[in-house]
Amino acid sequence: MTMTDIILHKRFLKAPSTISVIMQDSTLILAFLMVTPVMSTAANLTDPCYNYTVLSDSWRSVNNTNNGYCDNSVSWSGWYRLFINGLSAHIPDTCVAVFRCGTSYPLWIRGGHPTVQDGVVTRDVCGNTGGFCCYYGSYPIGVKACPGDYYVYELRSPTFCNSAYCADVGSVIISSTAATPVIITPDPCYTYTVLDDPWRADSSQPSKPVTKCDTSVSWSGWYRLFINGLNAHIPDTCVEQYSCGTEIALWIHGGHPTVEDGVVTRDVCGYAGGYCCFYGSFPIRVKACPRNYYIYELLRPYFCTSAYCAVVSNMSSISTTVTPQTSSAVINITLQEGCSNQSSGCLKNLLEQIENITAQELPLNTVTDILTVVFNASEKISVSSSSASPAQLASYGTKVLKSSEKLISTLVKPTETSANVSFTLAAVEGKVFMVGPQVTLDKIPQLDTTNSSVDIDLIGIAKNNNDRSAVAFMSYTTMENLLKADFFNTTNDTIKTMMSTVISATLPKTSNTALTKAVNFTFRHIREFEPSGSLSCVYWNISEWIVDGCSVLNSNSSHTVCSCVHLSTFALIMQTSSSPPPSDLLELLGLVCVIVGLVFFSLALLSFALCQWSPGVNNVARINICISLLSAHLLFLLTQQFLSLIRPQQVLCVAIAGLLHFLFLSAFVWMFIEAVLLFICVKNLSQISSKKREVLSSGFLCVIGYVLAMVVVCVSIGLVPEGYGSEHCWIKTDEGFIWSFLGPVCVILALNLILFFKIVITLNSTLKNLNAEVSQMKQTKVMVFKTLGQFVVLGCPWILGFFTNGSEVLEIVFLIFNSQQGTFIFLIYCLLNNEIRQQYKNCFTCLCSGHSIKCNK
Ligand SMILES: *[C@@H]1O[C@H](CO)[C@@H](O)[C@H](O)[C@H]1NC(C)=O
Ligand SMILES: *[C@@H]1O[C@H](CO)[C@@H](O)[C@H](O)[C@H]1NC(C)=O
Ligand SMILES: *[C@@H]1O[C@H](CO)[C@@H](O)[C@H](O)[C@H]1NC(C)=O
Ligand SMILES: *[C@@H]1O[C@H](CO)[C@@H](O)[C@H](O)[C@H]1NC(C)=O
Ligand SMILES: *[C@@H]1O[C@H](CO)[C@@H](O)[C@H](O)[C@H]1NC(C)=O
Ligand SMILES: *[C@@H]1O[C@H](CO)[C@@H](O)[C@H](O)[C@H]1NC(C)=O
Ligand SMILES: *[C@@H]1O[C@H](CO)[C@@H](O)[C@H](O)[C@H]1NC(C)=O
Ligand SMILES: *[C@@H]1O[C@H](CO)[C@@H](O)[C@H](O)[C@H]1NC(C)=O
Ligand SMILES: *[C@@H]1O[C@H](CO)[C@@H](O)[C@H](O)[C@H]1NC(C)=O
Repeated sequence: MTMTDIILHKRFLKAPSTISVIMQDSTLILAFLMVTPVMSTAANLTDPCYNYTVLSDSWRSVNNTNNGYCDNSVSWSGWYRLFINGLSAHIPDTCVAVFRCGTSYPLWIRGGHPTVQDGVVTRDVCGNTGGFCCYYGSYPIGVKACPGDYYVYELRSPTFCNSAYCADVGSVIISSTAATPVIITPDPCYTYTVLDDPWRADSSQPSKPVTKCDTSVSWSGWYRLFINGLNAHIPDTCVEQYSCGTEIALWIHGGHPTVEDGVVTRDVCGYAGGYCCFYGSFPIRVKACPRNYYIYELLRPYFCTSAYCAVVSNMSSISTTVTPQTSSAVINITLQEGCSNQSSGCLKNLLEQIENITAQELPLNTVTDILTVVFNASEKISVSSSSASPAQLASYGTKVLKSSEKLISTLVKPTETSANVSFTLAAVEGKVFMVGPQVTLDKIPQLDTTNSSVDIDLIGIAKNNNDRSAVAFMSYTTMENLLKADFFNTTNDTIKTMMSTVISATLPKTSNTALTKAVNFTFRHIREFEPSGSLSCVYWNISEWIVDGCSVLNSNSSHTVCSCVHLSTFALIMQTSSSPPPSDLLELLGLVCVIVGLVFFSLALLSFALCQWSPGVNNVARINICISLLSAHLLFLLTQQFLSLIRPQQVLCVAIAGLLHFLFLSAFVWMFIEAVLLFICVKNLSQISSKKREVLSSGFLCVIGYVLAMVVVCVSIGLVPEGYGSEHCWIKTDEGFIWSFLGPVCVILALNLILFFKIVITLNSTLKNLNAEVSQMKQTKVMVFKTLGQFVVLGCPWILGFFTNGSEVLEIVFLIFNSQQGTFIFLIYCLLNNEIRQQYKNCFTCLCSGHSIKCNK
C-alpha cells in the first residue's frame, strides 16, 4: 500500500516571508508583536512543530469500521501531523476497539499526551488485538504538543500487519493556554515495586523444560529486583537458554547506566538458536539509583516462555540494611495554574491528592517540591482572603497543616542511633529528628528554626515506643494569613496580634505519643511587643485558637517561652485593649464644622466677587484662596461622606487624592502671592512716587497660582505613581509621600514668614519717615495685619496636623481650625471691614424693601 496523500508541508519555509511582509508595514506593530513568538520558534529549524509531514488519510478515523490498511509498508521518517477531512487530529491515548481506523489492530499511544511545556516525550504504541489493549507493539515513538493546540508524532513502522495508526478529531486536546499543569514527577527510585522471585536467579535451572512465563504478569511502573532479599539486577550480558527458571531468559542489551545518566532505554533480548538477541528487542527503561541499585520499567514480553532474569549484585552490602518496601504509590501531584484568583478549588484538589498519597517514605526533594506548590496555592487563597469567610480560611488552614504534617512524616526513616533531616522553604521550615535503640544522647538537641525552637524529651518518649521515635517540627511563616489571630475567641474584646510564626510539632510514626515531660517552645517575637499587652500561648483546635494546656513560662521583650502538655500547632498571640472606635460625636462635630466653614467660604467669596474694594487693593489672590479652599473642603466633605462608594474605584480615589493635593497646594501658593502683592504694595508706599503700578496682571497671577501647584502634583505622580489613594482617598502617609504636600507647604509658610517680617519692618520705617497719605497708610497697615491673621489662620492648622497622632484633643483643635478657615476669612475681610459691612447693610435694606439689589457703591 502506498501513501499517495502524504503532502510535504514544511511550514517553516513560509514563515520568514510572512514575517518580513508584516515587518515592512511598520504601522502593524501590533501584528508584529503577535508574530514575534512564532519567529523565535520558527528560527529553530529542528522544531518538529514547524517541520512535519501532513498525514491526512481519512480512513484513519476511529469511526471507520472498514479495514485492510497496514502501516508496515510505509517508509516512515521524521515527524507527522494528522488531519481528518481537514480537521486537526491526534492519535488516541486510550484503547481503540479492534477493526477500527481502517485496520485490524488499530494503534494507539499509552501514557497520555504531553503538554507544550513537556517538549518531546516518548510514548509507547499499543495495538489492540481484542483481548489485550496493548498486546502488540509497545515500541516507543516521540510525541510533542505544539502551541496552537496540535500534536506531532515521530512515527515508526509497526512491527506487524494489519495495524495502522489511528486518528481522532475529538477534543481530548488540552489547550496549551488554559491550564498548564505543574507536575511533580515522583522519583521512581523511591516508588518502585519489589520483585523478589528467587526463581529468576541466573543459576536456577528450570525443573521442567518450560516453566515460568512473564506474559501473565500485568506489568506496570517501575520494579526493583531482589533475590531472597538480596539486591539484584537484570544481567546485561548474554544469558543461556533454559536458565533463570524459564526457557528464554531475558537480559538487557547495552549495559547499565550510571546514576548521572538518569532514565535510559535498553532493548530486552532473549537467546535462541545461537543468537543472543534472537527474541525480543523491545525496549524497556532502566535507571540507576543512588545507593547502588537499579530499577526497571518492565513490560510484558511478547511470547511465552520467557521471563526476566536476575543476578545478585555484589556491588555493595546495602541489601542487608535496606528493607524491601512495597511502595507502589505513585505521587503525581498536579496543580492547575489557571485557578489563581479566588478559586480555592485547586488547593482543595491538591490537598486531596496529598491525602491520597500512600507512600510511607518519600525523598526530601519530593516533599519540598510538594510543599512549595501547596504553600504557593495557599498564598493565593490568603491573598484573596477578603472573599473567603473566616470559617473557610480556618478549614483551609487546618487542611494545609494536616497535609504538611503528613508530608513531613514521610521523611522519617528508621535509624539505629539518631538522624535528622531539615529543610527551609520560603513559607515553611522543617526539622525532623529521629532516634533509634542505639542512641547515645541523653537529651536530644534543641530543634530550632529561624524564629522558634522546641525542647522535647524525645528520648523519654522513645523509651515508651520500643526505643524508636521521631519528632517533626515545622515553622510556617505565612500561616497566620489563614489561621488568623482573630480566631482566638476571648471574653474580653481585645485586639489580637500574632506575635510568633505558627509552629507545629508532631510525633510521626510513634504509636504512644504520651509526653513524658511538658514540651517547651521558645518563640521569637516577630512583631514589636507592647508592654501593655498580655501574651497567650495558644494551640489550634480545628477552627479556633485555644489556651487549654498551654501556658507562658517566661517572657522578655524579644522572646517568650511557652510550655504545653500536648503536641499540636501552636502560636503566641498578644492581646491589647482595643482603642475605642472613632466616636460618632467627633464625626458629627467634623461634619457640622466643615459645613459651617463651607457656608462662610461661600459668603466670603460672594462678598469678594460682588463688592468693590477700594482702589489699589488687589483681591484676585484672596478670591482664588477662597475658590481653592472652598473646592478642596467641598470635595473632601463629599469624598468622606461617600467613601464606601468611592473607595472600591481605585482610579477615582487616586484622582480625588490628586485633585485635593492640587487644590490645597494652590491655596498655599495663592497665600504666598498675596503676601508678595502686599509686600510690593508696602514697598510702593515708601517710594516717593505714589504712582500706582499694576505690577502683576491678574492673568499672570492665575498662571503662577495654579501652574505651580500643578507642577508639584505632576512631579509627585511622576516620582511615586502609587503615592495617591490612601484609605481616605488622600495622600498615602506612609513612606514619606505626604512630604509632597507638607514640603511645599513648609517652604511657602517659611517664605511668607520672612516676607511678613520684611513688610512689618518696611511699614515701620515708612511710618516714621513719611506723614503723607495718612489714610492710605492706615489702610495698608490694617491690610497687613489682616493678611498676617489670615496667614496664621490658614497656615498654622496644618502645622498642628503634624502632632495630631493619637491625641484626641489636638485632633479636635485641628478639625476646628481647618474647617473654620472660611469663617475666619469671612470674619476678617467682611465683617471687620467697615465698607463691606456698610454694603451688607445696604443689601439687607434692599432686600427688605423689595428693591433691586444695588451692592456696588
Ligand atoms: C563480585 O565481587 C568480587 C569481589 O568482591 C569480584 O571479584 C567480582 O568481580 C564481582 N562480580 C561482579 C559480577 O561484579
Ligand atoms: C482520593 O482518593 C479517593 C478515594 O480513594 C478518590 O475518590 C479521590 O478522587 C481521590 N482524590 C484525588 C484528588 O485523586
Ligand atoms: C508560585 O506562584 C508564582 C505566582 O503566583 C509563580 O510565579 C511561581 O512559579 C510559583 N512557584 C512554584 C514553585 O510553583
Ligand atoms: C520545660 O520546662 C519545664 C519547667 O521549667 C520543665 O519542668 C520541663 O522539664 C521542660 N521540658 C523540657 C522538655 O525541657
Ligand atoms: C466566642 O465566644 C462566645 C462566648 O464566650 C460565643 O458566644 C461566640 O459564639 C464565640 N465566637 C466564635 C466565633 O466562636
Ligand atoms: C479580661 O477582663 C477581665 C475583667 O474584665 C480581666 O480580669 C482580665 O484580665 C481580662 N483579660 C485579658 C486577657 O485582658
Ligand atoms: C523571623 O522574624 C523576623 C522578624 O523578627 C521576620 O522578619 C522574618 O521573616 C522571620 N523569619 C521567618 C523564617 O519566619
Ligand atoms: C476542640 O474542638 C472540638 C470541636 O469544636 C471540641 O469538641 C473540643 O472540645 C475542642 N477541644 C478542646 C480541648 O477544647
Ligand atoms: C529573652 O529570652 C531569650 C530566651 O529566653 C534570651 O535568649 C534572650 O537573650 C532574652 N533577651 C533579653 C533582652 O533578655
